[in-house]
Amino acid sequence: MKIYSKIFVIIFFVSNALCAVNLEELNLMPYPKSVNLLEGKFRVDENINLQVSKVSERLKKYSDKFLMRLANRTGIFLKNPFAAQANLTHNPNVIFEIDRIGSVKLNEDESYEILISTEKVKISANNDIGAIRAVETLNQLLQSDENGYYFPAVKIIDSPRFPWRGLMIDVSRHFIPVDVIKRNLDGMAAVKLNVLHLHLSDDQGFRVESKIFPKLTEFGSDGDFYSQDQIKEILHYANDLGIRVMPEIDVPSHTTAILTAYPELASLQLDYKIERKWGVMDPTLNPTLDETYEFLDKLFKEMSELFEDEYFHIGGDENNGNQWNANPEIQKFMKENNLQDNHPLQGYFNNRLLTILTKYEKKMVGWDEIFHPSMPTNIVIQSWRGKAALIESAKKGYQTILSNDYYIDLIQPTDFHYLNDPIPADVSLTDDQKKFILGGEATMWSEMISAETMDSRIWPRTAAIAERFWSPGNINDVENMYKRLEYISFLLEEHDLQHIKNYDRMLRRLTNNNDTESLRNLIAVIEPVKFYQRNDLREQTQQTPLTRIIDAATADAKVAREFNKLVDNYLNDNKNSTLKNEILQYLNLWKNNHSEIIEVAKKSPILLEIIPMSENLKNISEIGFEIINSISTNKKIENSQLNSFYMEIEKCKNPIAQTELMIVSGIEKLVKSLIQ
Ligand code: ACM
Repeated sequence: MKIYSKIFVIIFFVSNALCAVNLEELNLMPYPKSVNLLEGKFRVDENINLQVSKVSERLKKYSDKFLMRLANRTGIFLKNPFAAQANLTHNPNVIFEIDRIGSVKLNEDESYEILISTEKVKISANNDIGAIRAVETLNQLLQSDENGYYFPAVKIIDSPRFPWRGLMIDVSRHFIPVDVIKRNLDGMAAVKLNVLHLHLSDDQGFRVESKIFPKLTEFGSDGDFYSQDQIKEILHYANDLGIRVMPEIDVPSHTTAILTAYPELASLQLDYKIERKWGVMDPTLNPTLDETYEFLDKLFKEMSELFEDEYFHIGGDENNGNQWNANPEIQKFMKENNLQDNHPLQGYFNNRLLTILTKYEKKMVGWDEIFHPSMPTNIVIQSWRGKAALIESAKKGYQTILSNDYYIDLIQPTDFHYLNDPIPADVSLTDDQKKFILGGEATMWSEMISAETMDSRIWPRTAAIAERFWSPGNINDVENMYKRLEYISFLLEEHDLQHIKNYDRMLRRLTNNNDTESLRNLIAVIEPVKFYQRNDLREQTQQTPLTRIIDAATADAKVAREFNKLVDNYLNDNKNSTLKNEILQYLNLWKNNHSEIIEVAKKSPILLEIIPMSENLKNISEIGFEIINSISTNKKIENSQLNSFYMEIEKCKNPIAQTELMIVSGIEKLVKSLIQ
């Protein structure tokens, strides 16, 4: 007996230790301020009984949806699939406790606490917005073991680092339908973002119905715009998620679409048509005409009534001044008003807009070009051209938000954005000045995205940016972020986000419904070119097909990252034979992939442009084989052959079909290891 009980005790402790969750394993993002794991597990079963302590339509809806999400993930038939409100149920075991209803406005309290014991799950928050932020953390906490699903016992205390945590979506260059906006709002709430900035007008389209100026969408939208009812639907949807929606009407430049309807407001009298290309265009409103301000007054009034947010974005970026320089009347106006150049003229224009917006009780936001000494400090500067504007603005007492280096359209890797901090540790600002930095926004410019590809450009990278905005600055371990991001990316599919799903569809289209495996192997190690290279390489327009390999490929080619890491480990770890075999497996796969992709391309000529890339992958894999072989057998490689390797590697660094081969750096390291 004694022996048995001892064995039992040992098994109990060992199995408990094996089952116990540790902090490393929690896939939380944004990572909370404080997480303390406790003993035990709260079992998720059919008896979940959720109660919301106070009547809140927002929290009730969110809780019901959470229960459905939980049921869908676990397959458990909940006896109580709806949340009860304010003491309607006996014995709740999941309690969401709030003191008041939150307001969807800047600086609302979003803090919360979660306490999970074996018996109970309790969320406490000052208001229902904090509570729904907590629900997302709770959702991420769900684990499973051999006995089913559970939440680990834990105490979490959390609140955001910055009050302004945004995502800008450009719905002008390519129109983005309401359902795509809605699923992205869900994604935003899932990672605790709280501002959707809609870039509604640009040279390529005016996308919101104006009842006062219906010509704006009649002439400036190709029929693709949000009706006012649809805007209200989006606002209502966002409000339920505790997300503000800030409109942007970009003036005085980026206004070709406006000028298709009202050419008389232009600085030069020309025949305006919706712009189909990308770049900085000349068309600019005439800042010297009273009619310009009368138009903007009426339009901003209408939009201020439609969009309830306190902040209104007037754009203000990239005025190249060409039209102002070419108009003698404008030049005369500048002389008469002692305006030395176009910047103070834009300052004059912005001051007049500020008067209009103030009348409609709105606070003005603009891109960093609106920063001018004539502007009072009650405007908000969105810094996109560099950090200097952000720091300068904060020093001068302007509130500011950072978008520089959060340009997710440029397809940079997640860690680049993740390590970009609105307030870097070494910044030369006083604590008081730091308070002017409200946070940041990721920007999803849409020149080269469609409704089909947008999710894959936003997610999952924006989840890591959301962590930068929410979590303490010292949570910045890149490897750990990538590990968590993979899980969070999968969880985001709960909201019908299509960053993973559409990939498969695109591959099917690219192979003309033939076998996708060889293409999958290739795309797994390539990425789209970065920055604006795609725009330079071809004459791109709004009608360019966005269905090519470059559109299916994503930032952070995972397999390439894994391979390059494997090479590092192999070289640093005494040429370990297990690692060697893993490398050889990859090289073998890529070497043999080429002949298969050639066969698929015969049936789907859209793939022909990527054949040279596939050939590069094969050639470079063969080099990898030679090197590994030389390392394993101590066989020296002749200098002439090494030189030919280097030449091939250099060749493989060149983009093909506007994509880049991401394993080149790993192979290059292998070659270099021979000469060290
Ligand atoms: C911008 O990227 N033109 C704000």
